[in-house]
Amino acid sequence: MDKIIVRGGKRLEGEVNISTAKNSVLPIIAASILSGDKCIIESAPMLEDVFVISDVLRTISTEIDIDSKTNRILIDSSNIKDCEASSELVKKMRASFLIMGAMISRFGKFRLSLPGGCNIGTRPIDLHLKGFSALGAEVSVGHGYVEAQAKKLIGNKIYLDFPSVGATENIMMAAVMAEGETTIENAAEEPEIEDLAKFLNSMGANIIGAGSGTIHIIGVKNLKGTTHKPIYDRIEAGTFMTAAAITRSKIKINGIDERHLKPVIAKLTEAGVNIKIEGNSMVIDGDRDLKPIDIKTMPYPGFPTDMQSQLSGLLCTVHGTSIITETIFENRFMHASEMKRMGANIKIDGRSAVIEGVDRLTGAEVRATDLRAGAALVLCGLAAEGETEVTDIYHVDRGYVNIEKKLKGLGADIERAKM
Ligand code: UD1
Repeated sequence: MDKIIVRGGKRLEGEVNISTAKNSVLPIIAASILSGDKCIIESAPMLEDVFVISDVLRTISTEIDIDSKTNRILIDSSNIKDCEASSELVKKMRASFLIMGAMISRFGKFRLSLPGGCNIGTRPIDLHLKGFSALGAEVSVGHGYVEAQAKKLIGNKIYLDFPSVGATENIMMAAVMAEGETTIENAAEEPEIEDLAKFLNSMGANIIGAGSGTIHIIGVKNLKGTTHKPIYDRIEAGTFMTAAAITRSKIKINGIDERHLKPVIAKLTEAGVNIKIEGNSMVIDGDRDLKPIDIKTMPYPGFPTDMQSQLSGLLCTVHGTSIITETIFENRFMHASEMKRMGANIKIDGRSAVIEGVDRLTGAEVRATDLRAGAALVLCGLAAEGETEVTDIYHVDRGYVNIEKKLKGLGADIERAKM
C-alpha cells in the first residue's frame, strides 16, 4: 500500500491541468453497455475507480481496452452473456451499481451484489429500486443481491424523494429504451448527469432536460455505439483551487468550466481568495489575508459535499470561527479527527463542524479515511510545518489522477512511498 509524504510550507506556482470527471466517466462506462456496439471514451481519467468498474464489466464478458498512453477506453459489450455480476469488486465501489439500469434495459433482467463504497454514510439504494419498479421491473433484494426483471419496461412518471445523483442516472439508463415516455421529477441536476444524457443522446437516445430538476426520456427502439469526451472534473479543479488557497499561493488551473464551479468560486471568493477566469482556465490567488466562512453542503447547484473536507482543511488555517454543515452524507467528518492530529481545532456537533483557525498546522502521520478526506489531508500537509504522512492513499487514487505528480509540478515537496 502507498502513502504520500508532504513536507509543508512551500508556496505553489505554475500551472496544473485538470483531468476529465470521475463522476462522469463511471456512469458513461456503465451506459456504454446499452447498445452492444463499440463505444470509445476519449481523454478518460486513469483512475482506480475506472479500473474497478471496467473489471466489474469484464466479469460479464465485456471487452474493455484501456490505453493509458492515449487515455482512450474502448468498450465492446457485444458478447455479454451473463446476467449476473457477483464480485468483491461490486462491494468495493458503489458506482458499480450503475450497471444495473443499463443491464435491465438491454436484457430485461440482472442480478448484482449489493454495492459498497466510501465509508461516509449508509448510502441506501431505495430510490434506484423504486425507479426500476415504476418502470415495471420486478425487484427483489436478498442474500446480498439485488435482482430485477421485466418482460418489458414501460415509461412512467417518477418523483425522487431526494435528488440522488446515482438514482437519476440509473433510472435514465433503465428508461432509454422503455416503451413511451419517462419523466423523472426532483431529479439531480449535477453537470455529470447532463454529460451522461449527452452521451446517451449521441447513442441515439431521446433525453430532454438533463441538468434540470425534470428530465423527460422518450423511449427509443435501440441504441448505437458512439465516441465521447467527458467534462472536466469540477471536484479535482476545486481541490487544486483549495491547494492554492491553503498555501496562500497563486496558480493557474487549466481545464475548468466556470458554470460548474460557481458554488466553490463563491465560497473561496467570500473567504478573500482572488479568482480570475480566462475561458477554460482560472488564475487563483490565495496570497491574501483570508476570512472565516460558513458552508452548507447541498445538492447541485449548492455547495458540493465532495468539496467539504478540502474546504474544512483550508478553514483550519484561517483565523476566526467557520461553521460547516453537511446535509448530504451523515458520516462525512472523519477527516476532523485526523486534522486534529495536525493541530486543527475542530468540534463536531451532529451534522455541523465548528472550526477555529489556528496559527499553523503541524505535520503528523494521518490516515485517508475516504477519497475526499484523503485529498484534504494532503492539502493540510502542504500548509503544515514539517512532514506529513498520509497513509491509505488508495482512497485518493480512486478519484485523483497522479495527485502527487500534479502538486509536485506546482512546486510542492511531495512524494509517494510504499507503506
Ligand atoms: C454521487 C457521487 C459522489 C457524491 C454524491 C453526492 C458518483 C459516482 N458519485 O454519489 O461523489 O458525493 O453523488 O453529490 O457520481 N440516497 C438515498 N437513497 C438512494 C440513493 C441515495 O437515500 O437510493 C441518499 C444517500 O444516502 C445520500 C444522498 O442520497 O445521503 C446522496 O446520494 P447520491 O446523490 O445518490 O450519491 P451517489 O450517487 O452515491
